[in-house]
Parts: sequence; C-alpha cells; structure tokens
Amino acid sequence: MNFKNKLVLITGASSGIGRAAALQFAKKGANLILVARNKEKLNQTAEDLKKFNVSIFVLECDVSKKSDVEKMAKSILEKHDSVDILVNNAGFAIYGPVSKLSIEEIESQMATNYFGMIYCVKNFLPSMIKKKSGHIVNVASVAASFGLPGIASYCASKFAMLGFSEGLKHELKGTGVGITVVSPIMVRTNFFDHPSFEKMPKYSPTSLSPETVANAILKAANSSRLEIIVPSFVRGAVWMKETFPYLINPILGSAFKKQLDKNEEN
Ligand SMILES: NC(=O)c1ccc[n+]([C@@H]2O[C@H](COP(=O)([O-])OP(=O)(O)OC[C@H]3O[C@@H](n4cnc5c(N)ncnc54)[C@H](OP(=O)(O)O)[C@@H]3O)[C@@H](O)[C@H]2O)c1
Repeated sequence: MNFKNKLVLITGASSGIGRAAALQFAKKGANLILVARNKEKLNQTAEDLKKFNVSIFVLECDVSKKSDVEKMAKSILEKHDSVDILVNNAGFAIYGPVSKLSIEEIESQMATNYFGMIYCVKNFLPSMIKKKSGHIVNVASVAASFGLPGIASYCASKFAMLGFSEGLKHELKGTGVGITVVSPIMVRTNFFDHPSFEKMPKYSPTSLSPETVANAILKAANSSRLEIIVPSFVRGAVWMKETFPYLINPILGSAFKKQLDKNEEN
C-alpha cells in the first residue's frame, strides 16, 4: 500500500511498538497523529519523526477515559474528514494471580486495552464508513488465544479485542473499511517495566523487536485478514491449542503456573 499522505492515528505512540510503528509509517510518507498520556515522550517521538518531513500532531489522551477520547477525536475530525488508518495499540498488563489482584487492577486493564479501543472505534468509524475507506489495526497479543496463569485479566482484555474485531469485520463487509488484529509474542519494550513484573525475567531469547511488530502493523493496515500473528509460525501453536486443547493447554498452563508460583514464593 502507498501510505504517502495517508493520515494515521496511533494510540500508545510514546513508547515501544506504537513508537516504532510511527517511525515506519513516517518513513513511508504518512502523516501521523500520536496519542498517549505522556506528552514529553510523545514530543520525543514527534522530534524523531521530523526528519521524514511529514505532518505530525501530538495529542495527550488517556484512552481509558471516554471523555478524553471524545475530545481527542473531535479535535481531529474538526480538521480532517476522517483518519485513514487507526492503530489501537495502547495497552498494559498487571502480573499476578487473580486471587491477589484487586478488582480495580482487573478493571483498569479492560478499561485501557479493550474499552480504550472501543472508544476510538466508536469515535472514528462513522467517518471512515462515510468516506467508504480506511483500516483499523488492533494490537492484541498471542494472549488473545491462550488464557495464561498470572495474566488472566490481560488475556481476557485481548480475547475481548479479538472477538470484537472478528464480529466487526463481518459487519464491515462491503463498506470499504477493514479491520485486522496484530498478535505478537513477547516484545522488547517498556511493557514489562510495570512493578508487578519485577520478579519476572524481562525478555526471553525469542522476544521480538518493536520494529518487527511495527512491520506487521503496516502489513495489517492493508490486509484482508482478521489476524496476523507475529511470528507467523506461532499460528501453528494456536491451531494446536484449538484442535488439541487437552495436549497443549496442560503444557503451557504448567510452565506459566510454575513461574507464577516461583514469583509468589519470593
Ligand atoms: N511487549 C510485549 O511483550 C507485547 C506482546 C504482545 C502485545 N503487546 C501489546 O502491544 C501494545 C503496546 O505495548 P508495548 O509493548 O509497546 O508497551 P509500552 O512500551 O509500555 O507502550 C505502551 C504504550 O501504551 C500507552 N498507554 C498505556 N496506557 C494508556 C492509556 N490509558 N491511554 C493512552 N495510552 C496509553 C503508553 O503511553 P503513556 O504511558 O504515555 O500513556 C505507551 O505509549 C499493548 O497493547 C500490548 O498489550 C505487547
């Protein structure tokens, strides 16, 4: 796809995958709207994009707050008829057993990872449908396919994102608007800086670079597929889980439970 002069909005563009995606879209000549809560970090991303001579808007917004997203969308749609690509990437996880997480901690993950995406879709989709073009890219995770001990509520938010996207994809048939989910394995970003991950090994040797996931996001922006799993061979594991759950679930479950128990002991 030719991204030149396309208007791309990325939530969670102040760090990690969102920042890497912003760089790659800018390299291809797209104009960017960078959204997150930390203005300083957003400005840093914007500064790094300057060399690409594209237009960049920075908007401070907490996507878990309905009114923040409404305000952010209104300010954009006053100037533009629509966005061409909406990347719902803002997200985080809190690690720990459900028995120890507070209800508020569980709610907060759903509020950002799932409802943050819903608020953005609800605010931008009508203008995309009116324009009969555009693509929504939702950044989920392989945790959208595996319910894992220690991150059960995070998994729930990503399962919800995938299910919603699948339903919406059917609804959008024939409208000119597309939707694709990008589901990576572990990525080397600030994601694991949350204090709840303190006792966890930060990355595994197989962890991806944010640039690899950013590449998949650009691919997704022009894809007719529902889900792009990164790396693609992990689709085999998802297939195994869905086809032979009694084989793969106990293996994955006990590996993650061991880690959770170790964390709880320390
Ligand atoms: N890293 C991984 O292993 C991994 C694996 C699979 C999927 N993912 C998914 O990838 C996405 C990006 O994560 P990352 O790995 O790049 O982590 P990251 O480096 O921590 O970046 C997360 C981004 O989300 C933003 N954000 C968080 N809460 C927000 C809120 N309420 N409103 C607006 N922005 C918010 C953060 O910005 P501010 O703090 O400035 O708001 C930041 O820009 C997430 O959805 C995550 O679930 C990550």
